[in-house]
Amino acid sequence: MLQLTDVDVAALLEKTDVVGTVREVFLAHAAGRTVLPEESCLRWTNDEGDACRSLNMPGLVEIDGRRIAGTKVINASLGNPARGLARAGGLILLFDLTTARPVCALDAAHISAGRTAAVSVLATELLWAAPARAVAVVGAGALAEAHLELALRRWPSVRQVRLHDRVRERATDLAERLGDTHRTVAFDVTATAEQAVREADLVIPVTTTTSGYIPADWIAEGAVVVNVSLDDLTPEALSAADQVVVDDWSLVAADTTRILGRMHRAGDVLPPPRHRAPNPSAPARPAVEVTAELCDLVDGSAEGRTAATDRIIVNPFGMSLHDVAVAGRIYQEFLT
Ligand SMILES: NC(=O)c1ccc[n+]([C@@H]2O[C@H](COP(=O)([O-])OP(=O)(O)OC[C@H]3O[C@@H](n4cnc5c(N)ncnc54)[C@H](O)[C@@H]3O)[C@@H](O)[C@H]2O)c1
Repeated sequence: MLQLTDVDVAALLEKTDVVGTVREVFLAHAAGRTVLPEESCLRWTNDEGDACRSLNMPGLVEIDGRRIAGTKVINASLGNPARGLARAGGLILLFDLTTARPVCALDAAHISAGRTAAVSVLATELLWAAPARAVAVVGAGALAEAHLELALRRWPSVRQVRLHDRVRERATDLAERLGDTHRTVAFDVTATAEQAVREADLVIPVTTTTSGYIPADWIAEGAVVVNVSLDDLTPEALSAADQVVVDDWSLVAADTTRILGRMHRAGDVLPPPRHRAPNPSAPARPAVEVTAELCDLVDGSAEGRTAATDRIIVNPFGMSLHDVAVAGRIYQEFLT
């Protein structure tokens, strides 16, 4: 079995169109050319009291007339940054379609962060009222860096990035690193999350919080919020949004821990149109209406934004299909 290290993967990722790949995956998903099982999650607390988890995320997707199958195992310990380690790390395994044997193991960190940023960027471009000028990022870790590197390379419209982290040095370090490359952008490190979020036209929470702290009234008219870390918004912020878009409803519906999954279990979420029962029972007026899945926006079957003032929340649970597809493209690139 071929093994590609993080250095190998980082070099090959440079040659891969990650946004284009996630777009093709959404089209394949809309056309039924995917298999997306539920993910499994093992959680524990280590001897030092840190929350740890291991996610196993299998998937199969057909793109370029070829099927790619595999799984991502991504583990994390909340104590790792204090140990000088990345919070999350793992492996992507690619499978031979005929024998089912694993053929390639790739370090997952760069692919996982890169595909997450690519989904956020694609979703934003599909839903923004105008190209983003003021971007707020809460949390200044690996995912913040991956998002800002991709967004700033792609969007010359951005004039200001407001960064907040509860550990201020993480935000100042990231602002300095990015400021060296992006000299036309003003990087402001804010003392509070509220100062970062208010008046931003794109908000990206990438923290590790498990309790919501972004209320509805922090979110500006017309803003897009890409809720990457999934638990930063209060239930009221989700209810007050003009639109809530998910990446894949089945993953959200199967989830028991994140805010949208919990609200769904409590009967407070109306699924996206394709997943609604013909005669839904209570609740008559759910608190949150999911208006679309991202694959519907990508293939044009859902409308997206309807007014420049809409506040739109994207809840990207994270789909294995993107990891497997990007890993498959990297593997092909390595072989050629
Ligand atoms: N939805 C997806 O597809 C997807 C994919 C990958 C990662 N994620 C999530 O993204 C998040 C960030 O991942 P990462 O690898 O960058 O983590 P990280 O540990 O590298 O960075 C997180 C940063 O957030 C800061 N932080 C935590 N709570 C905060 C709060 N309440 N306010 C302000 N700052 C806070 C921490 O100090 C840290 O600097 C994680 O929750 C991870 O699970 C989501």
